[in-house]
Amino acid sequence: MSAEEAAAAAPQPSEEQPKEQERGAEAEKPPEPTYKCLVLVAHGGYDKVKLQVRKGSPAPGSGQLLVRVRACGLNFADLMSRLGLYDRLPPLPAPLGMECSGVVEAVGEGVADRKVGDKVMVLNNSGLWQEVVVVPAVHSFIMPEGMSFEEGAAFLVNYISAYMILFDFGNLRPSQSVLIHMAAGGVGTAAIQLCKTVDNVTIFGTASGSKHEILKENGVAHPIDYRTSDYVEEVRKISPKGVDIVLDPLGGSDTLKAFNLLKPMGKVILYGAANLLTGQKKNLMALAKIWWNQFSISALQLIHANKAVCGFHLGHLEGEWELIGGVVANLINLYKQGKIKPKIDSVWPFEQVGDAMRQMQDKKNIGKVILVPETPKQENKEEN
Ligand SMILES: NC(=O)c1ccc[n+]([C@@H]2O[C@H](COP(=O)([O-])OP(=O)(O)OC[C@H]3O[C@@H](n4cnc5c(N)ncnc54)[C@H](OP(=O)(O)O)[C@@H]3O)[C@@H](O)[C@H]2O)c1
Repeated sequence: MSAEEAAAAAPQPSEEQPKEQERGAEAEKPPEPTYKCLVLVAHGGYDKVKLQVRKGSPAPGSGQLLVRVRACGLNFADLMSRLGLYDRLPPLPAPLGMECSGVVEAVGEGVADRKVGDKVMVLNNSGLWQEVVVVPAVHSFIMPEGMSFEEGAAFLVNYISAYMILFDFGNLRPSQSVLIHMAAGGVGTAAIQLCKTVDNVTIFGTASGSKHEILKENGVAHPIDYRTSDYVEEVRKISPKGVDIVLDPLGGSDTLKAFNLLKPMGKVILYGAANLLTGQKKNLMALAKIWWNQFSISALQLIHANKAVCGFHLGHLEGEWELIGGVVANLINLYKQGKIKPKIDSVWPFEQVGDAMRQMQDKKNIGKVILVPETPKQENKEEN
């Protein structure tokens, strides 16, 4: 039987048939798609980040992408957001998350350099801890060959920050010395790897004592336990003149210590206020202390000191996508050459976001803490 004959032999639709078909279609109608999303509902403890299931399937508008998220990065700023100490978050309730990696599922009008199926890393001020996200295409970067989704989610915030701090502000050169605080964390690990791309750099790194062996393996010549010793004294014992660059993510009285530790022509780069985080909830005493001890210097004092004080905040570089794109291109080259590689501390499903945050806040992480929409496979967990 030819195709035409078969078509002619098939039952022809009668007057009643459409109604039946409609009923059938109703029954077969696929359920409305849903997607998981981690939302900060109020400021406070770990329980304020709720897993919600939303209905619908977002569609990309002009210049945007729809990305199916495979992994998300947890940043210190997410802990600060939870406490109400981070200014780049929209009014609550708000989906959290500044970085993720995933696969492009749809491309909006006018996007020429991304296609369905591309593996991308994404940077945004908030809202990326979701199963699917719609983002401006310029916020995405193609993942290099061989990079895992976990690595992709650990790449942008930590490495862009460390790169711009060390090379753009710090102007790190061979044979210089650097003090890296929180050296075993996400930015710290990235900073160590980037320092090692420059010849003969001496790295001092502060971290909890249990992490010192790994710091040494990674290239920190002088790990210092800031919890049991005075890091200023420890640095001076080894290098009486101090160091060329201090990375300061702590704030408060530590900034003055950093400034005083600098050699002539040295630079301190401020990029965080971790000292504000003292528990699950906002601590007004810590806020008052950090404000009271805030570093302050007059222009004349600065001239006489022969030192530089810089401030860096990636979230406030919003709109500078050309600048950021140039940095990411350099970083991807370094990744391809095997000179940098994100260190993953642990991988947690969305359902365990509180435990993931606790891992970082209890100072247990070495490297990056990752969240995934799907429960990780057993072998993945064991590996980590
Ligand atoms: N300005 C920017 O654009 C920018 C971008 C990214 C990150 N940052 C800043 O860089 C710093 C590092 O960020 P990250 O995301 O890579 O985090 P992270 O270093 O992985 O943070 C966790 C680690 O910080 C150390 N730590 C020091 N003080 C702490 C405190 N009060 N509470 C909890 N942990 C504390 C702990 O390790 P040890 O005890 O072993 O030191 C802990 O394991 C943060 O201050 C963050 O705000 C700034």
